[in-house]
Amino acid sequence: MSRVAVVTGGIGGLGTAMVKGLAAAGRIAVAVDYNGLKPEAVDKWTADRKAEGFDIPVYLADVTSFTSCAEVCKKIGEEIGLIEILINNAGITRDSMFHKMTPEQWDQVIKTNLYSVFNMTRQVYEGMITRNWGRIVNIASVNGLRGQAGQSNYSATKSGIYGFNKALAQECVKKGVTINSISPGYIGTEMVRAIRADVLEKVIAGIPAARLGEPSEIARAVVFLTDDEAGYITGEDITINGGLYYH
Ligand code: CAA
Repeated sequence: MSRVAVVTGGIGGLGTAMVKGLAAAGRIAVAVDYNGLKPEAVDKWTADRKAEGFDIPVYLADVTSFTSCAEVCKKIGEEIGLIEILINNAGITRDSMFHKMTPEQWDQVIKTNLYSVFNMTRQVYEGMITRNWGRIVNIASVNGLRGQAGQSNYSATKSGIYGFNKALAQECVKKGVTINSISPGYIGTEMVRAIRADVLEKVIAGIPAARLGEPSEIARAVVFLTDDEAGYITGEDITINGGLYYH
């Protein structure tokens, strides 16, 4: 069955691989991304996907705003179909040692990475439990599992996801809705490549796989967890980090 799958941060490094993976698996994949993006960037992304054989609609919203999420989910529901799969992937970093961290750096990260999870999930959740089917995947991070110096804001949001998921998993599994997380390690996206070169070199040296991960290696787990056959997996986390950290 063609189910509508929405990926926030859908035109970013990980999101692009996710929408492609979901579309290839027969889902109707929809990208939601930041309404502050330049229209040219969105058009280029759409054209690049078309050239690869993917016709993926992009909707723009601000995931830090409950109202904006309500509007975009309503629009997708009317124009594409009811949202049955939600991947909360939108996330940012504002890395800083804590003694230098500003209230803005704290706020932006908490709102984009964690409020977004509530703001988007709350829009689609009632429909999912009413229809007795839904899949939610929240993208956490190895740095939510183990903590990372310079990322007290980001680590807080990513480990917040585990508590949210474990609580909600207990509420919704009877209703055919599962909620899981994926904790990527250091993946070769713009976010990771933005780390200062000397710091990144040390990070890679510490990864047992001796390389960054590929976005497609995360997308594969998204497809797996959102499969129709994955209904008994809930409240779980899959870590994909080249051996950097286990839990
Ligand atoms: N553990 C403990 N202490 C550390 C440390 C670590 N891992 N890294 C740095 N420090 C210490 C340094 O030794 C230094 O100490 P002294 O002042 O006593 O010499 C102090 O912290 C300051 O370090 P920096 O010189 O690096 O400070 P800075 O202000 O120039 O930069 C920073 C701070 C921007 C946070 C930089 O350290 C950095 O980019 N770190 C990497 C953070 C990181 O891994 N981010 C991941 C981004 S990708 C992502 O988030 C995706 C994902 O999910 C994995």
